[in-house]
Amino acid sequence: MKVIKVKNYQEVSEKAAYLIAAQIQLKPDCVLGLATGSSPIGTYDKLIEWYNQGILDFSAVKSVNLDEYVGLDGTHEQSYRYFMNTHLFDKVNIDKNNTYVPNGMADDLEQFGKDYDALIEQMGGIDLQLLGIGNNGHIGFNEPADCFVAGTHVATLKESTIKANKRFFASEADVPTKAITMGIKAIMQAKKIVLIANGSAKAEIIEKALAGEITPEIPASILKLHKDCTIIYCD
Ligand code: F6R
Repeated sequence: MKVIKVKNYQEVSEKAAYLIAAQIQLKPDCVLGLATGSSPIGTYDKLIEWYNQGILDFSAVKSVNLDEYVGLDGTHEQSYRYFMNTHLFDKVNIDKNNTYVPNGMADDLEQFGKDYDALIEQMGGIDLQLLGIGNNGHIGFNEPADCFVAGTHVATLKESTIKANKRFFASEADVPTKAITMGIKAIMQAKKIVLIANGSAKAEIIEKALAGEITPEIPASILKLHKDCTIIYCD
Protein backbone atom coordinates (compact mmCIF):
# COMPACT_ATOMS: atom_id res chain seq x y z
CA MET A 1 0.00 0.00 0.00
CA LYS A 2 1.21 3.47 -0.86
CA VAL A 3 0.06 6.26 1.46
CA ILE A 4 0.63 9.79 0.21
CA LYS A 5 -0.22 12.74 2.44
CA VAL A 6 -0.26 15.98 0.50
CA LYS A 7 -0.75 19.69 1.25
CA ASN A 8 -4.24 20.33 -0.03
CA TYR A 9 -7.28 19.13 -1.97
CA GLN A 10 -5.88 20.40 -5.27
CA GLU A 11 -2.86 18.11 -4.89
CA VAL A 12 -5.08 15.18 -3.90
CA SER A 13 -7.15 15.72 -7.04
CA GLU A 14 -4.17 16.15 -9.33
CA LYS A 15 -2.36 13.05 -8.11
CA ALA A 16 -5.49 10.89 -8.37
CA ALA A 17 -6.20 12.26 -11.84
CA TYR A 18 -2.65 11.39 -12.97
CA LEU A 19 -3.18 7.77 -11.92
CA ILE A 20 -6.53 7.57 -13.74
CA ALA A 21 -5.12 9.29 -16.83
CA ALA A 22 -2.20 6.85 -16.90
CA GLN A 23 -4.66 3.96 -16.67
CA ILE A 24 -6.64 5.29 -19.66
CA GLN A 25 -3.52 5.93 -21.69
CA LEU A 26 -2.08 2.48 -20.99
CA LYS A 27 -5.38 0.68 -21.62
CA PRO A 28 -7.83 2.84 -23.60
CA ASP A 29 -10.66 0.31 -23.12
CA CYS A 30 -10.15 0.00 -19.38
CA VAL A 31 -12.91 -0.45 -16.81
CA LEU A 32 -12.93 2.37 -14.29
CA GLY A 33 -14.72 1.92 -10.98
CA LEU A 34 -16.01 5.35 -10.04
CA ALA A 35 -17.18 7.15 -6.92
CA THR A 36 -19.40 10.14 -6.25
CA GLY A 37 -19.51 12.66 -3.39
CA SER A 38 -17.47 15.79 -2.91
CA SER A 39 -14.04 14.11 -2.85
CA PRO A 40 -13.75 13.13 -6.55
CA ILE A 41 -15.05 16.40 -8.04
CA GLY A 42 -11.56 17.93 -8.31
CA THR A 43 -10.23 14.72 -9.85
CA TYR A 44 -13.00 14.67 -12.45
CA ASP A 45 -12.39 18.36 -13.21
CA LYS A 46 -8.73 17.58 -13.95
CA LEU A 47 -9.67 14.68 -16.23
CA ILE A 48 -12.11 16.96 -18.08
CA GLU A 49 -9.37 19.60 -18.44
CA TRP A 50 -7.00 17.05 -19.97
CA TYR A 51 -9.75 15.74 -22.24
CA ASN A 52 -10.37 19.30 -23.47
CA GLN A 53 -6.65 19.65 -24.15
CA GLY A 54 -6.73 16.51 -26.30
CA ILE A 55 -4.59 14.52 -23.86
CA LEU A 56 -7.26 12.00 -22.88
CA ASP A 57 -9.69 9.97 -24.95
CA PHE A 58 -12.60 8.29 -23.15
CA SER A 59 -14.21 6.80 -26.26
CA ALA A 60 -13.38 3.20 -25.35
CA VAL A 61 -13.50 3.56 -21.55
CA LYS A 62 -16.14 1.66 -19.58
CA SER A 63 -17.21 2.53 -16.07
CA VAL A 64 -19.04 0.98 -13.14
CA ASN A 65 -20.09 3.10 -10.21
CA LEU A 66 -19.93 2.06 -6.61
CA ASP A 67 -23.38 2.93 -5.43
CA GLU A 68 -26.75 4.62 -5.74
CA TYR A 69 -29.46 5.71 -3.33
CA VAL A 70 -32.46 3.40 -3.20
CA GLY A 71 -35.58 5.22 -4.39
CA LEU A 72 -33.90 7.93 -6.48
CA ASP A 73 -34.05 7.63 -10.23
CA GLY A 74 -31.30 8.88 -12.51
CA THR A 75 -32.99 12.20 -13.19
CA HIS A 76 -33.11 13.14 -9.49
CA GLU A 77 -30.48 15.81 -8.86
CA GLN A 78 -29.09 13.96 -5.86
CA SER A 79 -28.94 10.58 -7.57
CA TYR A 80 -25.47 9.30 -8.28
CA ARG A 81 -26.33 8.74 -11.96
CA TYR A 82 -27.17 12.44 -12.23
CA PHE A 83 -23.93 13.29 -10.39
CA MET A 84 -21.84 11.22 -12.79
CA ASN A 85 -23.53 12.67 -15.86
CA THR A 86 -23.10 16.25 -14.73
CA HIS A 87 -19.63 15.98 -13.17
CA LEU A 88 -17.95 13.78 -15.78
CA PHE A 89 -19.85 11.84 -18.43
CA ASP A 90 -21.53 14.81 -20.14
CA LYS A 91 -18.18 16.61 -20.33
CA VAL A 92 -15.99 13.95 -21.97
CA ASN A 93 -16.40 11.62 -24.95
CA ILE A 94 -17.31 8.51 -22.96
CA ASP A 95 -20.09 6.41 -24.53
CA LYS A 96 -22.90 6.59 -21.95
CA ASN A 97 -23.96 3.08 -22.97
CA ASN A 98 -20.68 1.94 -21.45
CA THR A 99 -21.33 3.64 -18.10
CA TYR A 100 -23.06 1.70 -15.36
CA VAL A 101 -24.48 3.03 -12.09
CA PRO A 102 -26.54 0.74 -9.83
CA ASN A 103 -30.27 1.20 -10.34
CA GLY A 104 -31.78 2.37 -7.07
CA MET A 105 -35.25 1.97 -8.58
CA ALA A 106 -34.94 -1.73 -9.50
CA ASP A 107 -38.01 -3.77 -8.51
CA ASP A 108 -35.87 -6.61 -7.26
CA LEU A 109 -32.77 -5.05 -5.74
CA GLU A 110 -31.35 -8.39 -4.63
CA GLN A 111 -31.46 -9.74 -8.19
CA PHE A 112 -30.12 -6.43 -9.46
CA GLY A 113 -27.12 -6.83 -7.13
CA LYS A 114 -26.37 -10.30 -8.54
CA ASP A 115 -26.68 -9.01 -12.10
CA TYR A 116 -24.39 -6.06 -11.34
CA ASP A 117 -21.69 -8.38 -9.99
CA ALA A 118 -22.10 -10.63 -13.06
CA LEU A 119 -21.77 -7.58 -15.30
CA ILE A 120 -18.53 -6.53 -13.60
CA GLU A 121 -17.19 -10.05 -14.08
CA GLN A 122 -18.21 -10.09 -17.75
CA MET A 123 -16.35 -6.82 -18.21
CA GLY A 124 -13.24 -8.59 -16.92
CA GLY A 125 -13.31 -6.88 -13.52
CA ILE A 126 -12.29 -3.35 -12.63
CA ASP A 127 -8.90 -2.05 -13.76
CA LEU A 128 -8.84 0.96 -11.44
CA GLN A 129 -11.28 1.64 -8.62
CA LEU A 130 -11.52 5.19 -7.30
CA LEU A 131 -12.78 5.39 -3.71
CA GLY A 132 -13.72 8.07 -1.22
CA ILE A 133 -14.11 7.24 2.45
CA GLY A 134 -16.83 8.06 4.95
CA ASN A 135 -16.06 9.66 8.31
CA ASN A 136 -16.96 6.26 9.76
CA GLY A 137 -14.59 4.39 7.44
CA HIS A 138 -17.15 3.24 4.88
CA ILE A 139 -16.09 2.55 1.29
CA GLY A 140 -18.88 2.63 -1.28
CA PHE A 141 -21.76 2.26 1.13
CA ASN A 142 -20.18 -0.67 2.90
CA GLU A 143 -20.97 0.67 6.34
CA PRO A 144 -19.36 -0.43 9.62
CA ALA A 145 -20.82 -3.84 10.51
CA ASP A 146 -20.12 -7.19 12.12
CA CYS A 147 -18.95 -8.74 8.87
CA PHE A 148 -17.88 -7.72 5.39
CA VAL A 149 -20.46 -8.26 2.61
CA ALA A 150 -18.97 -9.68 -0.59
CA GLY A 151 -21.56 -8.88 -3.26
CA THR A 152 -23.54 -5.86 -4.42
CA HIS A 153 -26.23 -5.39 -1.81
CA VAL A 154 -28.68 -3.01 -0.20
CA ALA A 155 -27.16 -1.19 2.77
CA THR A 156 -28.97 0.69 5.49
CA LEU A 157 -27.14 3.95 5.92
CA LYS A 158 -25.73 4.74 9.36
CA GLU A 159 -26.94 7.86 11.09
CA SER A 160 -23.44 9.34 10.72
CA THR A 161 -23.63 8.86 6.93
CA ILE A 162 -27.09 10.40 6.71
CA LYS A 163 -25.87 13.38 8.74
CA ALA A 164 -22.75 13.73 6.57
CA ASN A 165 -24.79 13.61 3.35
CA LYS A 166 -27.64 15.88 4.41
CA ARG A 167 -25.60 18.82 3.07
CA PHE A 168 -26.66 17.74 -0.42
CA PHE A 169 -30.40 17.63 0.39
CA ALA A 170 -33.02 20.18 1.48
CA SER A 171 -33.24 18.50 4.89
CA GLU A 172 -32.00 15.43 6.75
CA ALA A 173 -35.42 13.82 6.30
CA ASP A 174 -34.90 13.89 2.52
CA VAL A 175 -31.73 11.76 2.63
CA PRO A 176 -32.58 8.21 1.55
CA THR A 177 -31.98 5.70 4.34
CA LYS A 178 -30.88 2.90 2.01
CA ALA A 179 -28.46 2.55 -0.86
CA ILE A 180 -27.38 -0.19 -3.20
CA THR A 181 -23.63 -0.62 -3.10
CA MET A 182 -20.93 -2.71 -4.66
CA GLY A 183 -19.65 -5.15 -2.07
CA ILE A 184 -16.15 -5.72 -0.81
CA LYS A 185 -15.39 -8.47 -3.36
CA ALA A 186 -15.62 -6.39 -6.55
CA ILE A 187 -13.76 -3.53 -4.85
CA MET A 188 -10.95 -5.76 -3.57
CA GLN A 189 -10.71 -7.58 -6.92
CA ALA A 190 -10.00 -4.31 -8.73
CA LYS A 191 -6.49 -4.48 -10.15
CA LYS A 192 -5.66 -1.05 -8.75
CA ILE A 193 -7.35 1.03 -6.05
CA VAL A 194 -6.97 4.77 -5.48
CA LEU A 195 -8.60 6.19 -2.35
CA ILE A 196 -8.83 9.95 -1.97
CA ALA A 197 -9.83 12.05 1.02
CA ASN A 198 -9.83 15.64 2.12
CA GLY A 199 -10.00 17.16 5.62
CA SER A 200 -9.11 16.35 9.21
CA ALA A 201 -12.01 13.96 9.94
CA LYS A 202 -11.03 11.86 6.93
CA ALA A 203 -7.33 12.00 7.84
CA GLU A 204 -8.22 10.71 11.29
CA ILE A 205 -10.24 7.72 10.05
CA ILE A 206 -7.60 6.85 7.42
CA GLU A 207 -4.87 6.85 10.06
CA LYS A 208 -7.08 4.72 12.33
CA ALA A 209 -7.84 2.25 9.51
CA LEU A 210 -4.15 1.93 8.67
CA ALA A 211 -2.90 1.63 12.23
CA GLY A 212 -5.37 -0.88 13.61
CA GLU A 213 -6.48 -4.41 12.81
CA ILE A 214 -8.54 -5.32 9.74
CA THR A 215 -12.13 -5.14 10.89
CA PRO A 216 -15.58 -4.68 9.29
CA GLU A 217 -16.13 -2.04 11.96
CA ILE A 218 -13.79 0.11 9.84
CA PRO A 219 -14.50 -1.17 6.30
CA ALA A 220 -11.57 0.71 4.72
CA SER A 221 -9.16 -1.29 6.92
CA ILE A 222 -9.53 -4.21 4.48
CA LEU A 223 -7.64 -2.19 1.87
CA LYS A 224 -4.45 -3.14 3.71
CA LEU A 225 -4.81 -6.57 2.08
CA HIS A 226 -4.83 -5.13 -1.45
CA LYS A 227 -1.67 -5.49 -3.54
CA ASP A 228 -1.94 -2.17 -5.39
CA CYS A 229 -3.75 0.41 -3.31
CA THR A 230 -2.76 4.09 -3.17
CA ILE A 231 -4.23 6.40 -0.56
CA ILE A 232 -3.92 10.11 -1.28
CA TYR A 233 -5.16 12.50 1.40
CA CYS A 234 -4.71 15.82 3.11
CA ASP A 235 -5.90 17.12 6.48
C1 F6R B 1 -19.83 7.63 -3.04
C2 F6R B 1 -19.25 6.70 -2.07
C3 F6R B 1 -19.00 7.11 -0.67
C4 F6R B 1 -18.20 8.42 -0.57
C5 F6R B 1 -17.95 8.80 0.88
C6 F6R B 1 -17.23 10.13 1.00
O1 F6R B 1 -20.00 7.04 -4.29
O2 F6R B 1 -19.03 5.59 -2.41
O3 F6R B 1 -18.28 6.08 -0.01
O4 F6R B 1 -16.99 8.27 -1.25
O5 F6R B 1 -19.16 8.88 1.56
O6 F6R B 1 -18.06 11.13 0.50
P1 F6R B 1 -17.53 12.62 0.30
O7 F6R B 1 -16.49 12.56 -0.75
O8 F6R B 1 -18.73 13.39 -0.14
O9 F6R B 1 -16.99 13.05 1.62
